[in-house]
Amino acid sequence: MRLLITGGCGFIGSHTVREALGSGKFQKVVNLDCLTYSGNPENLKDIDDGKYRFIHGSINDSKLVQETIREEEISHIIHLAAESHVDRSIDSVEPFIRSNIDGTRVILESIRDLEKLGHEISMVHVSTDEVYGSLGPEDLPFTEETPVCPMNPYAATKAASDMLVQSFSNTYGIKAVITRCSNNYGPNQFPEKLVPLMTLNAVEGKKLPIYGDGMQIRDWIHVSDHSRGLLESLFGLSDGSLTPGEVINFGANDERTNLEIVSEIIEMTDADKGLIEYVSDRPGHDRRYAMGFEKAKLTLDWEPLIPWEKGIRDTIDWYINNPEWVESVRTGDYLNWLERHYG
Ligand code: NAD
Ligand code: TYD
Repeated sequence: MRLLITGGCGFIGSHTVREALGSGKFQKVVNLDCLTYSGNPENLKDIDDGKYRFIHGSINDSKLVQETIREEEISHIIHLAAESHVDRSIDSVEPFIRSNIDGTRVILESIRDLEKLGHEISMVHVSTDEVYGSLGPEDLPFTEETPVCPMNPYAATKAASDMLVQSFSNTYGIKAVITRCSNNYGPNQFPEKLVPLMTLNAVEGKKLPIYGDGMQIRDWIHVSDHSRGLLESLFGLSDGSLTPGEVINFGANDERTNLEIVSEIIEMTDADKGLIEYVSDRPGHDRRYAMGFEKAKLTLDWEPLIPWEKGIRDTIDWYINNPEWVESVRTGDYLNWLERHYG
């Protein structure tokens, strides 16, 4: 098995590269990443493994994608490369359309064209719970049968890419499954997302900007549980426990309000509660996500293993103990974003 991971220098991608190398199941793990603001080679700098190769390039470059698959004799793909931050998609949707939709089209067309030449490729397309839209307080969690109903531009581009994958699977027989996961947290997450942003601000005595009333709910899963699920999905596709075109959900059954999360971070970092600042709500803010993952349990024998209490403690410690990493992501683009978004 020779694996291509797209977006491997990002948060989930870097954990997935480690998980893949650690599994011992792959002869080669190739990481294709164009290093946007959130792609950070520091995430993988300690990897010293002859089976690993990094290629600096974009999934939008069809020549490069085809050459990489051909020359590296890629048999499996985990496709993570994407623009991933909802607030940025509200600011400007064009990069999301380019990477998330058109980038996915390039990967799918490359697979289709190379399969005509005799290559056989299995693919996991990494999507999100956000494509299902927002739940009411009493609603049951999303299942794989929940209709797709994206409510923000990021979610819309992810849903569009899911539809493309499903259509290529149906039309051209591409061996691909779509995974949808709830909110990830853990080390190496770019500090524009809730957990690392609040952790670093709390440690540094900066304001903790809570959107709206802070009562929005997310289901939080540790990134390593998600990465393991992605590999299990790839193996499930190979051994026939998953059928091409199928969707599979991952979650942790761990629903928390944003206010609860921020309060825990304050407690664990001994920060001052007075740092909390209620700011204008995110436009079109989804109220609640919750993921049903019975199918992953039944078909892949997968379940989340890291309890929130341990995961969040370790995560906070990681951000405190890795100041060099924090510095490495605080580039001009990050500072510009903070200034533009939070003022
Ligand atoms: P991230 O922003 O940390 O990483 C994205 C990576 O993709 C970066 O390394 C970036 O450089 C790369 N990239 C972007 N556009 C590219 C392009 N055109 N060509 C090559 N590389 C490109 O994001 P993340 O949180 O690690 O998310 C990874 C994937 O998982 C995304 O598809 C996202 O939609 C999905 N997902 C994320 C979460 C979450 O909670 N973070 C939950 C469910 C699903
Ligand atoms: P985020 O980490 O951006 O993930 P997502 O939008 O994909 O769920 O945000 C998680 C929740 O935290 C979401 O309800 C928005 C909220 N939030 C804030 O209240 N303040 C912030 O500064 C950020 C970044 C997020």
